[in-house]
Amino acid sequence: MSSTTDLDASDPLAHFREQFVHNLDEPGLIYLDGNSLGRLPKRSALAAANLINDQWGNRLIRSWNEGWFEIPNRVGDLIGKLIGAHAGEVVLADNTSVCLFKGAVAALKAQPGRTEILTDDMNFPSDIQILRSAAECMGPEYTVKIIRTDGISGSLDSVRNHLGDQTALVSLSQVAYKSGWLWDLSDVCKLAKNSGALTLWDLSHSVGAVPIDLTAAEADLAVGCTYKYLNGGPGAPAFIYVSQNNNLFSNPISGWYGTENPFQFDFEAQPAAGAGGFITGTPPILSSALVASGAEITLEAGIEKIRAKSIALTQRFIELVNEHLVSYGFQVASPLDSTNRGSHVSLFHPEAQAVGQALIHEESVIPDFRPPDLLRFGFTPLYTRYADVDDTIERLKRVSENGAISRWRHVNPLIP
Ligand SMILES: Cc1ncc(COP(=O)(O)O)c(C=O)c1O
Repeated sequence: MSSTTDLDASDPLAHFREQFVHNLDEPGLIYLDGNSLGRLPKRSALAAANLINDQWGNRLIRSWNEGWFEIPNRVGDLIGKLIGAHAGEVVLADNTSVCLFKGAVAALKAQPGRTEILTDDMNFPSDIQILRSAAECMGPEYTVKIIRTDGISGSLDSVRNHLGDQTALVSLSQVAYKSGWLWDLSDVCKLAKNSGALTLWDLSHSVGAVPIDLTAAEADLAVGCTYKYLNGGPGAPAFIYVSQNNNLFSNPISGWYGTENPFQFDFEAQPAAGAGGFITGTPPILSSALVASGAEITLEAGIEKIRAKSIALTQRFIELVNEHLVSYGFQVASPLDSTNRGSHVSLFHPEAQAVGQALIHEESVIPDFRPPDLLRFGFTPLYTRYADVDDTIERLKRVSENGAISRWRHVNPLIP
């Protein structure tokens, strides 16, 4: 195995680490939760000061005409470049949950005569709730079918076997939030298309970490969080992709901001072109504007380089876990083959929550815990070093040997 000193020295992305804020009071902190909340880009901190002090403080309502109005579309187009969309096919709007609901209802309405949504049990539980809500709104004949998996991997065959002439929509997370399983977007889209179903992807754990080409895959709809690998900030608005092929979709919650000319205040107004029609009301301008920095940095770094480093980091972590940590009760709960894995790795441990608390409070490592027994380690290539991988293994070993796990066994934090 190469030395981390050599790997970090020759890492073409190493200098991007300095684009992010690092707390000088915690020099040894290893942050492995960028798949939940990405770090703060330094340029966002500067942009926020300008947005608040100048654009809001000084320019007041004039700022709507000085750039605010186009922000959801402008930032949407930046994200569009990361996911293979044409200009105008992506906008920022709402949050991922609401965008998913809009996408699901739009898809069901575009499929008269078909009444089933197909998803799997690796999908984010809230996504399944949302899909059920969408089905319920459409009528009692609409159902959600859930493909059962082993919780770690999916299979194209099982998707194929569950597709039928009632399947209106296939909706999956491209990268599963727990195991990190990565679907081949193009293969699933092809299967769905061949059986007459539409596709709606949740890209929350893949955008900014994995190369995505929605146009080439002929995907129909997609949504995703901007606060994970895109580093948009806590609660930053989501994005929605609406394919403009065939002009199939309309926003089921249409409102003034998604019309052609909102400031006409015309209740007969036509929907705006492209994904713009999926905006409903006034966007959160400050947080929408701050999504731009993370997307720009990702584009500057290049998604292919990000993916290559992500594979190297996660592969190294998996190999070291298998070599040093199995005897302490850890087991890799993510796909071993990098072609089927996103940028996080989950470890099973019977006392995962206590291990996580011990890491956070005694070892300055921040992973996250997913009940009942998984720890997730997110490797964000823009600011994670190869040395962080080896140091995390060392610290996991230490908490397994020094009694730390028993010290944290009975602590039940609100956000683990
Ligand atoms: C895969 C996935 N989908 C959807 C969501 C929900 O996002 P939001 O709460 O912003 O609607 C999350 C949140 O973490 C997620 O991980």
